Amino acid sequence: MVAEVLTSLRPKPGGRYVDGTVGGGGHAEAMLVTSAPSGWLLGCDRDGIAIDAAAARLARFAGRFELRRGNYRELAQWLPASSCDSVLLDLGVSSPQLDTPERGFSFQQDGPLDMRMDPRSGPTAADVLNSADADELAKIFFEFGEERNARRLARAIAEERRHRPFVTTMQLAVLIERLSPRRGSRTHPATRVFQALRIAVNEELASLQGGLRAALTILKPGGRLAVITFHSLEDRLVKQFGREATREFTGPDEVPELRRPCTPQMRWVSRKAIQPAAAEIESNPRARSAQLRVLEKL
Ligand SMILES: C[S@@+](CC[C@H](N)C(=O)[O-])C[C@H]1O[C@@H](n2cnc3c(N)ncnc32)[C@H](O)[C@@H]1O
Repeated sequence: MVAEVLTSLRPKPGGRYVDGTVGGGGHAEAMLVTSAPSGWLLGCDRDGIAIDAAAARLARFAGRFELRRGNYRELAQWLPASSCDSVLLDLGVSSPQLDTPERGFSFQQDGPLDMRMDPRSGPTAADVLNSADADELAKIFFEFGEERNARRLARAIAEERRHRPFVTTMQLAVLIERLSPRRGSRTHPATRVFQALRIAVNEELASLQGGLRAALTILKPGGRLAVITFHSLEDRLVKQFGREATREFTGPDEVPELRRPCTPQMRWVSRKAIQPAAAEIESNPRARSAQLRVLEKL
């Protein structure tokens, strides 16, 4: 959604921009081209391979960007308050992460059950599957994957690992497929469990909540925050954050007498989420569930 992001964030010469999920640097490159000759950008990613790819792609803009390996929820520790003209968060996994079997994100290719965006630390998906009790697993599958068979799958996993601990993506995908035949659905039965494990392993929802707050801190008044989400859990958090930040009163919605006026911190740039154009979905089917929401700091 490069064109939509540029229209929303309006990069200009002299501006200071942040791409919290720089990935391979596609959006960052467009921001630097549009803000030439003097726009500056900080690109952040948890994944060292992404940082290397972005460094190569952005090399021709030397002096106009900085790359930082880390979690975007730390942005307010790296940049002064009210110092940036825009922040972009393009959430989720990247195509190189999904397409590299050794990273363990995909149920379509065999690889170790890893799923860490930053493989330097933290438990892998296999660690979670082999150590969490069945109730914890069911909670992860239900809350982070909205998986209706969460309990049944969690119990089957707990039983299976007594004989054979989980090591590979295929081992998990085959077990889930066996327990939940496709019955004509277009999505693979393991989709939700893989999404849930990925979110748990990378603490994605807590990172998003922290990242949204950090973005509000580092934006200048008039600065814009653009967030591209890929599923309803992420989108719900962005809407919730926006609802809080744009509120004109404190107190419970349902008891008007207890409301007190307050100054909103942000405004929605467009009320509705922006969807990718049909041509983009055709050339990149992974974009079909993308939604862009944009807020402006007041
Ligand atoms: C969809 S890709 C971004 C692609 C990028 N916009 C581009 O144009 O190439 C998402 C990226 O965000 C990174 N990521 C996800 N959560 C993160 C977090 N909490 N902090 C930093 N990077 C994160 C992932 O490692 C991945 O590289």
